[in-house]
Amino acid sequence: MPKEQGKGMQDMVYLEETKFMKRILTGDNTTGKLHLGHYVGSLENRVKLQDEYETFILLADLHAFAYPKYVDQPEVVSQSSREVLLDNLSVGLDPEKVTFFAESAIPELYELASILTMQVSLPRVLRNPTLKEEIKDKGLGDNYSLGFVYFPVLQAADILCVKADLVPVGEDQLPHIELTNEIVRRFNQVYKADALKEAKGMVGRVKRLVGTDGNAKMTKSLDNTIYLSDSAEEVQKKVMSMYTDPTRLKVTDPGHIEGNPVFIYLDAFVKEEDKNKIQEYKQRYERGTVGDVEVKRFLVEVLNEFLEPIRQKRREYETQPELVDKILKEGTEKVREEAKKTLEEVKKAMKINYFND
Ligand code: TRP
Repeated sequence: MPKEQGKGMQDMVYLEETKFMKRILTGDNTTGKLHLGHYVGSLENRVKLQDEYETFILLADLHAFAYPKYVDQPEVVSQSSREVLLDNLSVGLDPEKVTFFAESAIPELYELASILTMQVSLPRVLRNPTLKEEIKDKGLGDNYSLGFVYFPVLQAADILCVKADLVPVGEDQLPHIELTNEIVRRFNQVYKADALKEAKGMVGRVKRLVGTDGNAKMTKSLDNTIYLSDSAEEVQKKVMSMYTDPTRLKVTDPGHIEGNPVFIYLDAFVKEEDKNKIQEYKQRYERGTVGDVEVKRFLVEVLNEFLEPIRQKRREYETQPELVDKILKEGTEKVREEAKKTLEEVKKAMKINYFND
C-alpha cells in the first residue's frame, strides 16, 4: 500500500475514535516556566488521561496580559509561550494525540468571550475568591485593568469553545470553572439552546504544593519554585537551602514532619519502591537521629531522578524547533475550526446569525 494512503487510513481511524471521546481542555498562563506545583496539580493528570480523552491544551497568552506585571512585557510572554509548550511536551504529552493551541490566535474565542460578558454580572465576577486573592497577593490594589476582571470570562470561553467535559487544574482554578458553568446554564436557559456545555474540574493528587520557603503555595512571584527545566545543580542548590522545621536547632532535637516541605516533596515525588525509605527517614527525624542535610541530600536524589527523563525529552524537542512550531500551528488551526462551529451555534441561539443558516 502506498505510504500516503496508509496514513490517510490511520487518520480516519483516529477521527472515528475521537468522535466518541470525551474532551479535556486545560492550559497555562504564559507568565513563566512551569514548576513542580503545576506538575502535581494538573500536568500529571493531563499525561494520565491523554489516551482516554481527546485533549486540548492552550497557551493562555492573552491571560498573561491581564496582569499589570506582564502587560508591558511582550518578550517575556512570548518567550514563556515557548517554554510552557516545551514543559508540556517534556512531561510526556504526546503531540500525536494532544492538540496544543495559542489562545491569542483564535479570534472566535474572543468573540465568544465578548458575548459571554453579557451573561454575567460584574459584582459576581468580583466575588470570585481567586480573583480577590490575586488582587491581594500581587498587591494590585485598584490598579488592575478591565481585562483583568474579564479574564475568568475569557477562561470560560477557552473551555466552552471546544465543548470540554473535563478541566484538570490546580485547586485555585475551580472558582473559574464554577463561573463557566453558571454562564452555560444561564445561556442555555435564556436562549433555549444547548450550544454550551458544562464542564467538570479535576484537581491533582496534591491540591496545593508548598513552596521551598514553606509558604502554602509554590509560585514564581514568591521565588519559591523548583522548575521542571531546572538543572540538577539548581535543584541541589534550592533543596539544600530549603525551609524545614524552624523549631529544630540541633540534629538531636525531635523534628516535625507535618508541614515540612522536605517531607511533603519526598511524599509527592518518590518512586513507589523507595517509599519505605521515607518511612524510615520520618521515624529518625521525629526521634532526632538524622540531620536535615542527610534528608535533603536524599530529596535531591529523588527530585533529580524524577526530573531527568523530563529534561531529556525537553532537550529532544529543543533541538527540533520546526517540529515544535508545527505542533502549535496545526493544533491552533484545528481548534479554530472547533471554535468557529461553537460560535456559530451561539450566534444562532441568539438569532444573530444573519449570514449563515
Ligand atoms: N488561568 C489558568 C492558570 O492560571 C490557566 C488557564 C487559562 C486555564 N485558560 C484556561 C486553565 C482554561 C484551564 C482552562 O493556571
